[in-house]
Amino acid sequence: AAWEKQVRHSSTPRRVNGFSVLVTGAAGFIGSHCSLALKKRGDGVLGLDNFNDYYDPSLKRARQNLLSKRQIFIVEGDLNDGPLLTKLFDVVPFTHVLHLAAQAGVRYAMQNPQSYVKSNIAGFVNLLEVAKAVNPQPAIVWASSSSVYGLNTENPFSEHDRTDRPASLYAATKKAGEEIAHTYNHIYGLSLTGLRFFTVYGPWGRPDMAYFFFTKDILQGKPIDIYRTQDQKAVARDFTYIDDVVKGCLGALDTAEKSTGSGGKKKGPAQLRVYNLGNTSPVPVGRLVSILEGLLNTKAKKHVITLPRNGDVPYTHANVTLAYKDFGYKPTTDLAAGLRKFVKWYVSYFGIESKRSKETQHFDESS
Ligand code: NAD
Ligand code: UGA
Repeated sequence: AAWEKQVRHSSTPRRVNGFSVLVTGAAGFIGSHCSLALKKRGDGVLGLDNFNDYYDPSLKRARQNLLSKRQIFIVEGDLNDGPLLTKLFDVVPFTHVLHLAAQAGVRYAMQNPQSYVKSNIAGFVNLLEVAKAVNPQPAIVWASSSSVYGLNTENPFSEHDRTDRPASLYAATKKAGEEIAHTYNHIYGLSLTGLRFFTVYGPWGRPDMAYFFFTKDILQGKPIDIYRTQDQKAVARDFTYIDDVVKGCLGALDTAEKSTGSGGKKKGPAQLRVYNLGNTSPVPVGRLVSILEGLLNTKAKKHVITLPRNGDVPYTHANVTLAYKDFGYKPTTDLAAGLRKFVKWYVSYFGIESKRSKETQHFDESS
């Protein structure tokens, strides 16, 4: 296969720091950032991604381009392709897997439930089935989600809080992932670390997320919906900047114990850990919009509507004490600073479109 040639004959991945990491979802938002950061500090990285069209695949291709300039290669394939995964582990002795490939997005689960089952449940099981049989087993760090807290009313959310009331099928599949991880840890001794990300945003982000399409719609003068809860309170999210999340992912990889496997020498069970990676300060969606209005120097056409029963939860709020204790995770970017960087990227990436929007805006102002 083409990828095999590339991997065998290129410098990717080469163990420099001692890590050789398979990053699934490497053409995605968080996966592309983590791949670059790992490579930058000298680790070997190989990506896997199916380049699906959940959102504009040209953005995934652009991220792939960026990675290939840093000699990071992405194998094009699906998590559910067992023979491909087995082959990847045959060719490269991965020490770690950073598993980020998934069907993301909360509200889309109402339109295409099966895509969540396929990638987040069947695909995850397939990866674990392959990883359990590899000797020595890689340590696995995978993406869970703040959505597992569902309709919890604890504030903030801590890892030991209940997670039995998922509000969307997306959340249910992420919760299922945590149960599945527990099983593979228990039976096969796989080392597994789950990261509950909280609404991650930043440059090269996902066009299906609110901050991204709000920016687009505000620039194009289109109306946006701002949700309020059934009891007319502001909906809030613990928006977390991508660079903070990347540091958290690398910290989790660094502190992931090597699996012992069922026949390993080390005494005691391999680890199963779950951490919140959030920002610790929830912000109402209305505030997100007013920051964007300021940065874009444009007023939004706001429709405040009652949150439809679409899988969204009223608020999220992370307690990150555990991640701080175990690997020094400390978010440092507030929403205004992070959105500034996002908008800067957005304008440079969609240069022509935003220039055009600015012209329209001037026209509007003078008319
Ligand atoms: P993303 O959609 O940008 O990245 C996921 C990537 O995985 C995509 O490039 C996609 O093509 C790929 N992929 C999907 N299904 C696949 C399959 N079956 N086989 C191979 N590749 C597949 O999303 P992201 O925001 O980077 O999210 C990364 C992970 O973090 C996901 O697991 C997501 O559920 C989780 N997460 C994200 C956020 C967030 O706010 N961005 C919050 C919580 C959890
Ligand atoms: C995000 C990601 O999309 C999920 O993949 C991830 O799992 C989740 O974070 C998480 O933290 O676990 P979400 O918080 O819904 O999900 O992110 P956005 O789509 O960016 O929505 C942000 C906020 O804007 C939500 O409160 C939502 O209710 C609100 N919103 C969304 C509106 O007010 N109006 C809209 O038109 C859309």
